[in-house]
Amino acid sequence: MKVLDTGFAREFIRLCNDGWQFGWHESNGGNASYRLRKSEANEVRSGFSAHGWQRLEVELPRLAGECFLITAAGSHFRSIAHDPKHSLGIIEIDRSGSAWRECWGFKGDAQPTSELLAHLICHEVRMAATEGKSRVIYHCHPADLAAMTNIVPPDGALFTRLLWAQVSECAFVFPEGVQLLSWEVPGSVALARKTAAAMERTSAVIWPHHGLFVAGATLDEAFGRAQTIEKAAGIYLKTCMTGRPYLSAISEEDILRMSREYGLGIEESGIFGRPAMRPEGFQQMSAPAPVSVAPAPVEAAPAPIEVNEGSEAFEAAVPIPEPEPAPVSDPASVPEQEPIPSGEPLSAQELVDPPLSAQGFPKLGGPEMTVEAALEATPPAFRSQPQVMPEPQSQTMPEPQPQVVQEPQPWPQPDPQFPYQPEPQAGLEGAYQPQPQREEPVYRYYPKPPRG
Ligand code: 13P
Ligand code: ZN
Repeated sequence: MKVLDTGFAREFIRLCNDGWQFGWHESNGGNASYRLRKSEANEVRSGFSAHGWQRLEVELPRLAGECFLITAAGSHFRSIAHDPKHSLGIIEIDRSGSAWRECWGFKGDAQPTSELLAHLICHEVRMAATEGKSRVIYHCHPADLAAMTNIVPPDGALFTRLLWAQVSECAFVFPEGVQLLSWEVPGSVALARKTAAAMERTSAVIWPHHGLFVAGATLDEAFGRAQTIEKAAGIYLKTCMTGRPYLSAISEEDILRMSREYGLGIEESGIFGRPAMRPEGFQQMSAPAPVSVAPAPVEAAPAPIEVNEGSEAFEAAVPIPEPEPAPVSDPASVPEQEPIPSGEPLSAQELVDPPLSAQGFPKLGGPEMTVEAALEATPPAFRSQPQVMPEPQSQTMPEPQPQVVQEPQPWPQPDPQFPYQPEPQAGLEGAYQPQPQREEPVYRYYPKPPRG
C-alpha cells in the first residue's frame, strides 16, 4: 500500500492542516511525528528505500526498530497537504536504538525536522510513562500561550493553576499539568534534553516565547491537548485585557472536587499546596512591580530583582495589570474613586484565586457576598455608567468641502546597499560569522547521506 493512501498518513496531514488553519504555524514553525504501529509499517514497507544510518546523540532502546512519520525541517504546514512527499518522510530506528535512517519521502534536499532529537527522546520517555500507548509528538507556535509566557512568572505550577482556573475542560485534558522550561535555542540538544526530562511528568511542555510541545496516544489527543491549552491561555489573556475586575475563576477547591469525582489524580500531583516551582536554568528575571494595594509612586520603575524559588520576590511577581479607570465623557458626573485599602502583595496562590478585595474589588462567592453586594462594593469608577443619549442633532447637511488633491509621492529609491552583505568582524575568526545571503535552503542540520 502507498504511504499517502493509508489512514495514518491522511490523519497526520489533517492534523498539520488543522494546526495551520488555527494560525499556529507561521512560516516553517512547528513540527510533528507519529510512531507507526507494526501493522501500519508492514503495510507500507515495500515502498521504502533506505538511506545510510545516522548516529543519534543518545541511545533510545525503546524505539529500536520503530518507524516514524515526521515533518521535514523547514516545511511549511500550510503546504504539507499539497506537497507531502517533500514536506514529510518516514524514518526508521536501528535495532540498538542509537541510529536512524530515512526510508520514505523527504524528496530532494528535505530531511527530518531540526527538532528530531527532541521528538525521539520524548517518544522514548512518553512510551515509558504510558506503557507504550503514546504515539504522537506535536510542536506548534500558538500566540496566546506565547503571550502568556511574557506576563506570568516562569513557574510551571503557577502556569498550570492559571490554565486550569479558566475552563473546566483543562483539568481533564492535562491532569498532570504543564511543565515550563526556561528559554532555549530551538533545535538544540539542550532543549531536547530539558523537554524530555519534563515529559517524564507531563504530556505538555511549554517553551516560553516559542511554543508548545505535547504528546498523545493519538493524533486527536495530542492536537486536543494543544488546543485546550491555547484556548485557556486565550481566555486568561482576554480577561486581563478587559481591564475589568477578575470576579470569578474555578477555585482550587473546585478543581480538586472534579479530580476526586473523576479520578484525575490532581490531589496527589502536588501542584496545589506547594511553593512556586522554579523552572530549570532559571536564575533571574525582571519582575513586574508587585501588585501592591497601595497606589504605586509614579516614578517607581521596577528594578530587575533576584527571584529565587520560594523567595518573597518570586511570590510577589504577578502578571495582573492594575486596571485603568474606564474613560468617561463627563468627569463631573462621576464620583471620585474611593481610596484603595492597603494590604499585602498577592502571592502565587492568590494569583490563581485572586483576593480581589485586596485590590479594592469584592471577592464574589464568599459566605455572604451576593452579586448586588459585590457590585455595590466595587469602586465607582469601575461600575458601568448610566448611558446618556446624545441630543438629536439638526439634520442640516454640511457644506461640501473642496477636495484636496495629494501630489503623487515618488517611490522610495532602491537602497544601493540591498541586499545587505554583513562584513566579517575582526577578532572573531573561527567563531560564527554572518554569512552572505545564499540561495540554498537554511535548514541543514544533518548531512544527507547517499541513498543505498
Ligand atoms: P523545523 O522547520 O526544523 O521543524 O523547525 C521549526 C520549529 O518550530 C523549530 O522549533
Ligand atoms: Zn518551534
